[in-house]
Amino acid sequence: MVIPSLIECKRDGGELPPGTWAALVRAYAAEEIPDYQMAALLMAVVWRGLTDAELTELTAAMLASGDRLRFDGWEVPRVDKHSTGGVGDKTSLLLAPMLASCGAAVPMMSGRGLGHTGGTLDKLESIPGFSTRLSLADAMTQVRRLGCALFGQTPEIAPVDRRLYALRDVTGTVPSVPLIAASIMSKKLAEGLNALVLDVKAGSGAFLPAEADALTLAQTMIALGESSGVRTVALVTAMDRPLGHACGNALEVEECILALRGEGPHDLLEVTLALGAEMLAAAGLERDASAARTRLLNTITSGAASRKFAEIIEAQGGNPAIVDDPAALPQAEASAVYVAPARGRIAAVHPKAVGLGVNAMGGGRTRVEDQVDSSVGFVITARPGDTVEAGQPLATIYARDAAGLEAGEAALSEAIVIGGDAPAPRPLVSHRVTRNGIEVLPYRP
Ligand code: URA
Repeated sequence: MVIPSLIECKRDGGELPPGTWAALVRAYAAEEIPDYQMAALLMAVVWRGLTDAELTELTAAMLASGDRLRFDGWEVPRVDKHSTGGVGDKTSLLLAPMLASCGAAVPMMSGRGLGHTGGTLDKLESIPGFSTRLSLADAMTQVRRLGCALFGQTPEIAPVDRRLYALRDVTGTVPSVPLIAASIMSKKLAEGLNALVLDVKAGSGAFLPAEADALTLAQTMIALGESSGVRTVALVTAMDRPLGHACGNALEVEECILALRGEGPHDLLEVTLALGAEMLAAAGLERDASAARTRLLNTITSGAASRKFAEIIEAQGGNPAIVDDPAALPQAEASAVYVAPARGRIAAVHPKAVGLGVNAMGGGRTRVEDQVDSSVGFVITARPGDTVEAGQPLATIYARDAAGLEAGEAALSEAIVIGGDAPAPRPLVSHRVTRNGIEVLPYRP
């Protein structure tokens, strides 16, 4: 294989011959291709895309680069949810214990923050002692015992995606339908699932902001899932503002603990229930959407989901006391209230500026080797459409020190726009996509 010629072929819009992507993945896994050449190839894919045949081959090769979870002969339906990435997007932490409380098995393998978005693993690791590094064998045992395991991509699972994900994060090569689809599906197909629900984000804070791209991504991943025998459904959800109030790892875990007690923000609950109802239906555990919502809400009101979350935390070495006392989570050294600089209507709360702000304060990575400070971030109570007075509190900034507070304030002054025209906020859940097509959902703010 002459790698520069392959890069040039993709750069010029060509299709790599059958077998080439599989060979590239094997060679990259064997460290025979340096990161700089792989990054150039990825950039060519960002611009030129992949044909269906190339994408299928790339995804299968990434999956085959590692092992998979096996639940042979086990009757309990396995279902997972995966998001294409957002800011304040913490539904995984709610859905895992809620679904496990409903009798589903949830082998939830998650990722780290990517670009301006947060990652479920980074959030979970803000829980003192919590280990996301489960071996495949331990993850399978825990799923059978508790109905759920929350773990990172083990070195055995799609190891090539693991390296490509880190490389894409720092080389501007995230926003690409085929690269996102191959990355997500190579991991999800390794989980031994019966069903998968995809949360495909649309709006300025999504990797692919345009609704049309979100729908294409949804259909692309559904085709990959269904052709591998996994029932796959997608919801397109809003990422034109952060989801919920909290953005930043420990702050998001705290918001989830409150949400599991029924005290979470409305938008977070709505998106969680919509995804959860699809998960129950796709797993064959509930047919009727309103019965599914009721069943999911019952896991909150009965305390079952909170108890399950505590059990999972304990099983993975974390301190389950945080479920009763979120103050045991890492606390920021400094905080400040961010107030409205003027009277007016909030036109936008730009998620990307918020996510980059969390990163700038140390809550995310700008280089692969960066350590994450889980205590920092924002709690933003201002929502697009609110009318506010000058001096009214809009958010609280949590930071390491005065410089962090300054960085946080600069980010919020860019993110929260008061006055001027802005497009109407996107519906929280706008489309349902299945192998049969796209359904526009009734408007729910
Ligand atoms: N999540 C993933 O797992 N991969 C991507 O490329 C984007 C989001």
